[in-house]
Amino acid sequence: MNTLLLSDSQKDIETAGEILRNGGLVGIPTETVYGLAANALDGAAVRKIFEAKGRPMDNPLIVHIQDISEIRKFSLVREFPEKAEKLAEAYWSGPLTMIMPKGNAVPDEVSAGLDTVAIRFPEHKTAQRIIKAAGVPLAAPSANLSGSPSPTTAAHVMNDMNGRIDAVVDGGECRVGLESTVITLVPKKPRLLRPGGITVEDIESVIGEIDIDDAVLNKLRDGEQAASPGMKYKHYAPKARVVLIKGSDEAFADYVNSHSGKEVAALCYEEDKALTVPVFSLGKKGDYSSQAHLLFDSLREIDKKGGLKLVYARCPETDGVGLAVYNRLIRAAGFEVIDLEKI
Ligand code: TXA
Ligand code: MG
Repeated sequence: MNTLLLSDSQKDIETAGEILRNGGLVGIPTETVYGLAANALDGAAVRKIFEAKGRPMDNPLIVHIQDISEIRKFSLVREFPEKAEKLAEAYWSGPLTMIMPKGNAVPDEVSAGLDTVAIRFPEHKTAQRIIKAAGVPLAAPSANLSGSPSPTTAAHVMNDMNGRIDAVVDGGECRVGLESTVITLVPKKPRLLRPGGITVEDIESVIGEIDIDDAVLNKLRDGEQAASPGMKYKHYAPKARVVLIKGSDEAFADYVNSHSGKEVAALCYEEDKALTVPVFSLGKKGDYSSQAHLLFDSLREIDKKGGLKLVYARCPETDGVGLAVYNRLIRAAGFEVIDLEKI
């Protein structure tokens, strides 16, 4: 299959809409990461997403809308809980996905057989225009091959998906750079399943205290069931082994320099100096938005450079958007952490 590279001109957006209406797959920009979209109401179209990504069928997809009224119009949910309405009012459109009881119209392929459905209203204007042109809600996971870092540019999508999907719409670099925050409103006390650009602090300021799923910070134990199936898979990993290093600026530099070698690199803050190995940027120290924006691109750059076997990475903070950066990077590291204060 020849993958079309489309622009965000009105003509190209209409082409994308037509491909989607006809059951095809299109890579679309959003403010978080690029998505791999299909008509969410068409089970056969949605199955193609799993094939193109090599994604396990038990991992459900997010349904994307471009207006809150579409939730009722397309019978996407059985119930729109009051707390979900409050969060929608505060943070939609934006990088927040809400899980609610699934409506009749949503095929099992989208929800992977669960009785719930994840809904998101992206803020990116091009994403909104594509959904509108398609005339239906779009199911879309991140547009990477399963297991590799999520794509934050159209070039990343082409790199993974060229020949596997019908088209990609180039909408530039993604602003946030990490996937949306996922929260379930199904239990009485809402629960954060995946941290993202809308923080725990943001959410609690609107609906009060929430639970944070164990899998956000910790590795699932063998046989433990994931509330969000996506959290159980090894994710975002470059081919090189990544190890998180906890410690001060000086301790990090000393450790890396005394463990340097031909196949070693560092993923570190822009302020980190005097390292004797090649460095990749984890953004500015203390600036979590810049870290989120750069993380996936840097993980891809590590692979592109080739020949690297081991990458020592700074360990992100866990407040605000830092929690999302930590959550992705700890998975890229397969939960391998060295705490320099403990050795
Ligand atoms: O920012 C984003 O959310 C991007 C863009 C494209 O919108 N999409 C994205 O999709 O990251 P994906 O499929 O890579 O991640 C969706 C996550 C997975 O961890 C999945 O298991 C979880 O949401 N999820 C989806 N539906 C769910 C449900 N009904 N119950 C629990 N978890 C669900
Ligand atoms: Mg993904």
